[in-house]
Amino acid sequence: MSVSDLAAQTLAASTALAARFYSSADIAAIEREQVFARSWQLIAGASQLSGAGDHVVADIADTPILIVRGNDGVLRGFINVCRHRAGPLATCNGRGAKALRCRYHGWTYGLDGALKAATEMQDAADFEVGSIRLTPIAVETWRGLVFAALDPAMPLSELLAGTEKHLGDRDFSHYHFEKKVPYPVACNWKVYADNYLEGYHVPHVHPALNKLLDYRSYVTETEGWHSLQYSPMEGEGNFYGNGVALYFYIWPNLMLNILPDRLQTNRIIPIAIDQCRVDFDFFYPPGASPEAIALREQDQRFSDEVQAEDAEICTRVQQALTCGRYVPGRLNPKRENALFHFHEQVRAAYRAAGVR
Ligand code: FES
Ligand SMILES: [Fe+2]
Repeated sequence: MSVSDLAAQTLAASTALAARFYSSADIAAIEREQVFARSWQLIAGASQLSGAGDHVVADIADTPILIVRGNDGVLRGFINVCRHRAGPLATCNGRGAKALRCRYHGWTYGLDGALKAATEMQDAADFEVGSIRLTPIAVETWRGLVFAALDPAMPLSELLAGTEKHLGDRDFSHYHFEKKVPYPVACNWKVYADNYLEGYHVPHVHPALNKLLDYRSYVTETEGWHSLQYSPMEGEGNFYGNGVALYFYIWPNLMLNILPDRLQTNRIIPIAIDQCRVDFDFFYPPGASPEAIALREQDQRFSDEVQAEDAEICTRVQQALTCGRYVPGRLNPKRENALFHFHEQVRAAYRAAGVR
């Protein structure tokens, strides 16, 4: 270990992140507090929370959270932990709840998080139902996507600054949520992120995808807290139609894959230092023709194939990073600039956390 493996670098002289950051267990705890607990996380599409009582559950930094639309139309987020003895208010997504009733002993909260009733508590001294509330968290909606944060390091607008020039007036409010597909991958979450952040591997790992993309005109840009990869979609066998594919990576763990009439989001969730889960959420505009539905099925099968290819290479890389014999290699400034950008942010987070 050396102090210098955390120093800021320049792209032209950059070297990959040291193996210890992918393999030592204490790093996972530091990242949970310094990175994930301070981050904005994409939780749902707005159409999943369109009516009063509609709610979505998720975890942020191992903390169960709940987002619910109130009777006043306001979206609110709470820690999904009862103020009695830590039972869950909701265990799955749902529509139209009238109240949030704890699954353990039945304490009941309003959709605004205020405790309304606590069963059989009449003998408790100085116990005031009206003084107890669920713990709120930050919630923001951006272009029809709902984000939440425990202790955000910055406003959501700062996180997403610079994306607007590529997104124009795109808004996903009317897209419906089709499904979530969780993929467990036996690698550190940053191995999966690193792999997403470069197209360098595409000709070698994804032969079918490579035929759809024009690798030579594949562009990768970085700015602020995001990077963007895009390529005109042409080439034989392209079933998406003409248009541009935009692949955003947003700090620390979100991918927005935006294609014509399709939004697929991926969130990489750390499970252990050498394991993560990648949630793939599929969103589409409503009113699909039979042809459009067939195209989606093809799209999802193809996404599965690409994911299996990525998962295999990431698993092998994780084994190699854990073996203790890998010395970080030089990055390719032309093809790995987004990965470099991400590593700079990771190194800065470690420095801020006092990692040595
Ligand atoms: S833990 Fe919620 S009512 Fe007991
Ligand atoms: Fe890949």
